[in-house]
Amino acid sequence: MEIRLVGVVGAGQMGNGIAHVFALAGYDVLMTDISEESLQKALATIEKNLDRQVARGKVLPADKRAAMERIRTTLKLADLGQCDLIIEAATERETVKQAIFEDLIPHLKPTTILTSNTSSISITRLASRTDRPERFMGFHFMNPVPVMQLVELIRGIATDQETWETLHEVVRKLGKTASSSEDFPGFIVNRILMPMINEAVYTLYEGVGNVKSIDESMKLGANHPMGPLELADFIGLDTCLSIMNVLHEGLADTKYRPCPLLTKYVEAGWLGRKTQRGFYDYR
Ligand code: CAA
Repeated sequence: MEIRLVGVVGAGQMGNGIAHVFALAGYDVLMTDISEESLQKALATIEKNLDRQVARGKVLPADKRAAMERIRTTLKLADLGQCDLIIEAATERETVKQAIFEDLIPHLKPTTILTSNTSSISITRLASRTDRPERFMGFHFMNPVPVMQLVELIRGIATDQETWETLHEVVRKLGKTASSSEDFPGFIVNRILMPMINEAVYTLYEGVGNVKSIDESMKLGANHPMGPLELADFIGLDTCLSIMNVLHEGLADTKYRPCPLLTKYVEAGWLGRKTQRGFYDYR
């Protein structure tokens, strides 16, 4: 199936990164959010990130301009009705995502593929509440989207082969690499990454090391581009905690219990870079 017009629901960190890479790859993009302010902020972020790529010689100035022209915005979900592919990248709450799909469905073409960028919610469950579980998939981008090479493709129990193949081809056209995951808590990346981050928080909690020594150990000792605590701040400590809770509940194994220190930071509102304070102080 040919994909031309792509709808992105949610203009936050993930949504604007997704709009950026699709527009740069030549797709027409229609991005929506609940306020004009978020849409304008997203466009400014995309422009800034494209300028960064131009400055580093990764993108030509003319390609940047063409990409910006391919992105349109709207406040009305119904305007996404003509899209061939929808990528939902809204708040990581199941009720919010379900409400978006319910509002969207009456306006969609029967052939439109629905996807969610969820990092941990069951694709099978989200799909079962739509009118097209066979054309529904998990489409999980990594942050920062313009830089990270991987996109996780997650099949729900009912996802058909044509949908999987269409998205696989889309990922190829984006110049990225797809990995295929079955629909189990955390999929592949977060099933492995989050317990490592959680273990780093336990290492801090138990006084085995301090923030600097833990991060330096993993950067210099395991060649990770960021230390696990720095990465947790980058992802958002609330997101890390919520994914650990999904792993803990979904896999029913105490090895996934969230570290009490992670819970405490989230309760304090120390969510990492986005609140200027997490394991590091960005103020
Ligand atoms: N848009 C465009 N380009 C960007 C960018 C953005 N938002 N952010 C960084 N870049 C580019 C820079 O321009 C630079 O380009 P060159 O290589 O051409 O010079 C390159 O990325 C590296 O950036 P910097 O030099 O500014 O900084 P850095 O070398 O410290 O790298 C980083 C930054 C790419 C974020 C790197 O630290 C890194 O890879 N960190 C790990 C990120 C990671 O693990 N992400 C996955 C998180 S998990 C997830 O997303 C899943 C989930 O569900 C939670």
